Amino acid sequence: MPTLGVNIDHIANVREARKTIEPDPVQMAFLAELGGADSITVHLREDRRHIQDRDLRLLRETIHTKLNLEMASTAEMLEIALKVKPDMVTLVPEKRNEVTTEGGLDIKNHKIQLKEIIKELQLSQIPTSLFIDAEPEQIEASVEVNATYVELHTGCYALAQKEKIGLELAKLKEAAARATNIGLHVNAGHGLTYQNVVPIALINQIDELNIGHTIVARSIAVGLIQAVKEMQELIKNPISNHFKK
Ligand code: PXP
Repeated sequence: MPTLGVNIDHIANVREARKTIEPDPVQMAFLAELGGADSITVHLREDRRHIQDRDLRLLRETIHTKLNLEMASTAEMLEIALKVKPDMVTLVPEKRNEVTTEGGLDIKNHKIQLKEIIKELQLSQIPTSLFIDAEPEQIEASVEVNATYVELHTGCYALAQKEKIGLELAKLKEAAARATNIGLHVNAGHGLTYQNVVPIALINQIDELNIGHTIVARSIAVGLIQAVKEMQELIKNPISNHFKK
């Protein structure tokens, strides 16, 4: 069975909506670990729209499991990764105008650049994962650039109309088997939910699933009643709460 990597970018999204200090993704990573997360993933974007450099630095110091840094393959990000030393780097394509990562990396057409960055990371003992679509030529190109892992993009499966789900699942199974056969470790993620995760969790070759949005959404659902109760308590008993301190 795959392990669970929890992506906490969306917690930082809520904080950045107000440019305040809460919710703090560093504190929430601690809770995610208490809940059983096997690793914590953050995507430090060029525009710093959610995770900030400070988050990454503190997460490196406080995480008890593993830190997976998602990033674009740029000189700036490489420098940060070499300094922070996450347990793994996942290289992803990044566009300024996208809401979330769209599509996998095109390894085939960026072999020289990727090989170079992977080599630099390897010299610092940081394994690299490449976020790719479940296509044979991208898997083969990932071996050529010396990646340790590929992360199969599950977005097409997650978004497929009912009659196409089987086809998308078969593509992922085939890709996972192909990648393993040529020596790659396999992770997967994007768009997975409580409703669609089980068939993916049953794919033998997958080491880890990276899941973010649905877990953060669910945490609001299961936590909102308690949060409102606590606020009501303060408002209904202002005098006793005032003197509690
Ligand atoms: N894997 C990668 C490479 C991603 O970019 C993301 C989204 O940040 C995820 C997994 C998690 O996707 P989701 O938030 O849809 O679970």
